[in-house]
Amino acid sequence: MTDTATVDLAVEDATLQYDQRVISENLGFHVPPGSFTVIIGPNACGKSTLLRALAGLLRPASGQVVLDGSDIARLAPKHIARRIGLLPQSASAPDGITVAELVARGRFAHQRLLRQWSPADEIAVAEALDETGVRELSARRVDELSGGQRQRVWIAMVLAQETPMVLLDEPTTFLDVAHQMEVLGLLHRLNVSGRTVVAVLHDLNQAARYASHIVAMSGGRIVAQGAPAETITSELVHDVFSLPNVVIPDPVTGTPLVVPQDLR
Ligand SMILES: Nc1ncnc2c1ncn2[C@@H]1O[C@H](COP(=O)(O)OP(=O)(O)OP(=O)(O)O)[C@@H](O)[C@H]1O
Ligand SMILES: [Mg+2]
Repeated sequence: MTDTATVDLAVEDATLQYDQRVISENLGFHVPPGSFTVIIGPNACGKSTLLRALAGLLRPASGQVVLDGSDIARLAPKHIARRIGLLPQSASAPDGITVAELVARGRFAHQRLLRQWSPADEIAVAEALDETGVRELSARRVDELSGGQRQRVWIAMVLAQETPMVLLDEPTTFLDVAHQMEVLGLLHRLNVSGRTVVAVLHDLNQAARYASHIVAMSGGRIVAQGAPAETITSELVHDVFSLPNVVIPDPVTGTPLVVPQDLR
């Protein structure tokens, strides 16, 4: 069963760094509970770093990450894993593991010491395989799949975890356009049914369509956030990506559609 209590997750006045290399300073961000938040920004601006901090994997050098009122650094990994699921940008599976075995690993946080695999685990895995359309791949080895198939299997693993919040770092990378729309549709449904979704996306037009809340980053800082219509403007895209562009209404949804100008 998904733990349905809304997750309250925030980064407070944090310095995020690797060894001595500072990526973000004085970073503050509160995930709007119940939102579909999309983080945008150029390569190397610190999106994945922020996501790692939010998941409790990167400990701030100063400041803190607060999950449901507690410093995440003080919480047990299993507790965090019942509240937050993370799809990292480059996930790697153990050699030779099958799809069914990998997705089953999403159930780790639900297993008690003596109680082994349960019917609830079985149902969660089956649902995750169905939702991501990879059930027919169950017996295949993960390392023998195409990039797009593998990406959907990883998403299935995160879904099997049945957390009320999911963090996904570029979940549509490697997917063809139809599968991109499928995954975004799936995330939208999860969001509507009560899960808080935070995703890093590079496609600004998809971000504008699906997000309820946009976070734009540049050089380790959050430079704008809010509703897509207010946030994804020609000026912002120009400032953040150094890209001359025109923003018009998306003919299908009316949300901002960014049309880059030629750089030739
Ligand atoms: N494990 C690491 N050790 C040292 N430096 C790192 C590490 N991971 C990332 N960095 C550096 O931190 C900065 C921010 O990286 P991050 O991965 O957060 O960027 P990003 O916005 O996710 O970029 P992309 O769109 O390319 O995924 C980059 O300069 C990167 O080189
Ligand atoms: Mg990244």
